[in-house]
Amino acid sequence: MAPVALDDPAELYHAASKLEPALAALQLAELRRFAAEPALRAAASRPVRRHPYRAASKLPAPAWPELSLRDAVNARRSTSQLGGGALSLDDLSLLLAAASGITGTIEGPAGTPISGRVAPSGGGLFPLDLYVLPVRCSGLSEGVYRYDPERHALEQVAGSPAEGLGNALARCIYQQELAASAALVVALVATFARSRVKYGPRAYRHVLLEAGHVVQGALVAGAAAGIRTVPLGGYLDRELERLLGVDGVRESVVHAFAAGRDEA
Ligand SMILES: Cc1cc2nc3c(=O)[nH]c(=O)nc-3n(C[C@H](O)[C@H](O)[C@H](O)COP(=O)(O)O)c2cc1C
Repeated sequence: MAPVALDDPAELYHAASKLEPALAALQLAELRRFAAEPALRAAASRPVRRHPYRAASKLPAPAWPELSLRDAVNARRSTSQLGGGALSLDDLSLLLAAASGITGTIEGPAGTPISGRVAPSGGGLFPLDLYVLPVRCSGLSEGVYRYDPERHALEQVAGSPAEGLGNALARCIYQQELAASAALVVALVATFARSRVKYGPRAYRHVLLEAGHVVQGALVAGAAAGIRTVPLGGYLDRELERLLGVDGVRESVVHAFAAGRDEA
């Protein structure tokens, strides 16, 4: 029998990030610091990573499937065989809108109105950005793109690597059949500080929970539209982060999903 680890860092972290009455004063200090610091709150009030000079390509408005909520929720299924066919820009638009699209206005961290999204986020801080890696997506060349929910647009952050995006993804993903049959992968990148400024050590919990909320939206919408999907935890973190151009410390991939359709 394998020896039982008594010092699992995950358990230590979980215990250390519990809200406890005895530690309330300490833990509230973080919240107070956030509330008292206008610059922190202002920085958190537009949680969209956007490059000021890069062009963004607008996505088509999402065409929401007519399926009932009951049927869509019940149709969701993971599969590592993603069909090998291409997705359309309409498919991508739907997946992104259902994962992280803007749905209205909420009160932001600075007390000013900010964009609310389909997925909830602790404190309205939205620490996650969605990076799109399209291998077979009609109307979109291979490359690394970042989703801008407020503009429902994609900003290209890098071209395709010299080896080709499909080959690069095959090196990042454990399951080769999944990698080969996916039309695209969407990686969720957390900028931890966006949540940490308010929640301190507990922020990491929020970030991971929020990743689940975001991915579930895409999976259910995909099921409703006949798109094959799978949540993706089996990736080589550093390889994928290198491909995306994120530093892997202040910002890291925390979750992903892959999608595809049957070949026409
Ligand atoms: C966080 C998370 C990570 C996952 N990672 C993978 C993965 O890397 N590869 C895969 O084939 N399935 C992955 N799955 C899918 C599970 O295998 C699947 O959800 C499970 O078998 C239940 O099946 P269902 O999703 O069809 O209900 C993941 C699911 C979750 C929630």
